[in-house]
Amino acid sequence: MLDYGGINVEKLIITGPTPLKGEVNISGAKNAAVAILPATLLINGFCRIENLPNISDVKLYCQILELLGAKVTWHTPNDITVDTTNINNKADIYEITRKFRASYYLIGALLGRCGEVQVGLPGGCNLGARPIDLHIKGFEALGATTSIIQGNIKAVANKLVGTSIYLDIASVGATINIMLASVLAEGTTIIDNAAKEPHIVDVANFLNTMGADIRGAGTDVIKIHGVKELKGNSSYSIVPDQIEAGTFMLAAIATRGDIVIKNCITKHLESVTAKIIEIGGNVDANGDKLRVWYDKRPSKATIKTLPYPGFPTDLQPQMGVVLSTADGTSIINEGIWESRFQYTNELNKMGARITAQGKSAFFEGVDFLVGAPVYVTDLRAGAALIIAGISAEGVTEVYNLEHIDRGYENIEEKFRKIGANIKRVVE
Ligand code: EPZ
Repeated sequence: MLDYGGINVEKLIITGPTPLKGEVNISGAKNAAVAILPATLLINGFCRIENLPNISDVKLYCQILELLGAKVTWHTPNDITVDTTNINNKADIYEITRKFRASYYLIGALLGRCGEVQVGLPGGCNLGARPIDLHIKGFEALGATTSIIQGNIKAVANKLVGTSIYLDIASVGATINIMLASVLAEGTTIIDNAAKEPHIVDVANFLNTMGADIRGAGTDVIKIHGVKELKGNSSYSIVPDQIEAGTFMLAAIATRGDIVIKNCITKHLESVTAKIIEIGGNVDANGDKLRVWYDKRPSKATIKTLPYPGFPTDLQPQMGVVLSTADGTSIINEGIWESRFQYTNELNKMGARITAQGKSAFFEGVDFLVGAPVYVTDLRAGAALIIAGISAEGVTEVYNLEHIDRGYENIEEKFRKIGANIKRVVE
């Protein structure tokens, strides 16, 4: 038993190996939800959000909205109404916003709605340097002044005026944040070299449903024609989580299983489908369902993570588990984050043979993984270690579950339903 100074520690106990079999339902997208919730602050009225994932990041965001004066009504854990008629942008949200990365969307949203905002500099998963210089460049181009005060970032604007903004990197966060700041700006804003991830389209669709005029989301040029007001009074259902669906696809291959993944947008998963087929696996896309199966050892692969529609960085650790037992030596090049191979140390404790150097890792495929106590370092590493535990011989104990609970709804329940021997216990 671990000694954490008397604090109760939750862990997952997984006994494997189990080939996963059955059907799993995909929840709403975490990375869309954590942008749509702050986007509600632009509405002078209420909106209803459905298919909201029941995860801790969403609960935290709802708390922040309430601190800012919004009224959040829970119809079910996945369906809320947010009334943002009265907003107090001066509320003290500094500590709470430091807790997670996606709090940076409050800057764009409150700047757009109130012309002034101060939030804690964003925290979040430890994936190396995570600057927000491109967000700031965008706000300043629209007419805001920004400053850093005692660990907080402050942005002020008398008036935001649309302009052309070129992003040096197709940043997801900067694209959404500039979109939020410019929805109520005067004139037209053009974001060039915009990111194209599915959740960017979802945020634009949400804002348009509420009264915005955004065109081109999903391409690399987005045009935002400023409108006077977002009236809301409408409902919106969040897009299915591309990364959760990809996690189960890779779990099927890693465990030599056969899973039907329901309620997903198969087009969003084409890069993952292509890689699974390349390493020998089977994928059958049918409407909003994907069947993924393979009962053999996958072959080796070379993978580079890239912005959408490339192979997603958020599925890199889960793919790393698959390649740990592939036939031959695979290479993954991480194209987005500086430091996203911390999970490989944990997989090596389970018998994997992975050498990570900077942004590349070499996976010398072993016959099988063996259960061990492992520690989650970030959200997707957590999903990867669960998959590793289900595919490994013997017992795996997974610690630091708070990372996983931030972004996966009922993850152990979903895995249990498709056959995994997994339980959460408190030490
Ligand atoms: C989003 O992070 C996601 N988070 C991440 O999800 C995901 O890994 C990432 O996009 C890439 O797809 C949310 O949506 C909340 P970026 P974000 O701005 O927006 C550099 C998960 O597990 N950059 O697209 O922070 C940056 O350092 C996670 O769900 C700048 O240099 O990512 C990185 O190298 C974790 N300056 C690259 O761009 C900036 O101002 C892409 O980052 C902004 C980014």
